[in-house]
Amino acid sequence: MAIQKKVYVTRKILEPALSMLLKECNVVLNNNDRPPTRKEILKNVRGKDGILCMLSDKIDEEVMAAAGPKLKVISSYSTGVDHIDVDEATKRGIYVTFTSNILAEATADLTFALILALARKIIEANEFTKSKLWKVGWMPNLLLGTEVYGMTLGIIGLGRIGTAVARRAKGFNMKIIYNNRSTRNHQIESELKAEYVDINNILEQSDFLSIHTTLNKDSFHLLDESKFKKMKKTAYIINTSRGQIINEPDLIKAIKNNWIAGVGLDVFEKEPLSNSSPLLKMKNVVALPHIGSATYQTRSRMSEVAVQNLLRILNGRDPLFIVNSGVKKKN
Ligand code: DGY
Repeated sequence: MAIQKKVYVTRKILEPALSMLLKECNVVLNNNDRPPTRKEILKNVRGKDGILCMLSDKIDEEVMAAAGPKLKVISSYSTGVDHIDVDEATKRGIYVTFTSNILAEATADLTFALILALARKIIEANEFTKSKLWKVGWMPNLLLGTEVYGMTLGIIGLGRIGTAVARRAKGFNMKIIYNNRSTRNHQIESELKAEYVDINNILEQSDFLSIHTTLNKDSFHLLDESKFKKMKKTAYIINTSRGQIINEPDLIKAIKNNWIAGVGLDVFEKEPLSNSSPLLKMKNVVALPHIGSATYQTRSRMSEVAVQNLLRILNGRDPLFIVNSGVKKKN
């Protein structure tokens, strides 16, 4: 009988993928309902052939060294891989895989939920009703919001998720403008009549500005005080990408000073958001606990893909989605 490969899984993932992995490999699983500590990661990766990790696990040089020379694959249960030192992995001949476009539609749905919640004060209105403050029937000026239909949506990062958001925006007859740091998306430009604009124009023209770029050294704190000051005072920002793309203290300043109308955040510079964050007290802030991909359908598919990516590498096959294709030269 072939010797089973050794794998460390940092959180319980959805079935049936988890059982499939448990059947095929010798698995150390973090069964706790919390991320593993750094110490636990360093201990549990030792001697493993594969790691299946979450976006909350920092997988850097120290972790790869602790795992040792057998480590062949780091399979991330995420689309963003900013928590992994991909260059270091490539140098060591370790494959890095991800769940790619699997979560684009779920995240785009949540982005639109935030747009609508901000524009139509859904959270405030719900609290108003449930706290029994609704004393008079229909009122001509109660909880007035702003239209979404026909407004201008700015998208920073027209990749898989940004495109899925743009498609939804089309149904709302929105004018779509976008900015990509690298390439233009000519197909989407003609399909959705999306217009490529520079960063200043996207800031100045957007009624809703939605962030979908990946986090890297160029996008870190892409939005800061100087950028907020260029925006319309009536504009809303939505971030379902990574918290560090926005300078959070500057954002708080922008909201306090009414440089923008409000913000819908699913991601924060530090997660979980601190109980002392001023964002928690601000009326024009909708704050969610990083649930962009949190649907049963998407999370089960992510589990399946993360497990398949890992097993395929361990069985000498190509993964479904690879981050560092350059690693093949090393193997
Ligand atoms: C990801 O996979 O990068 C998402 O942020 C998870 O929701």
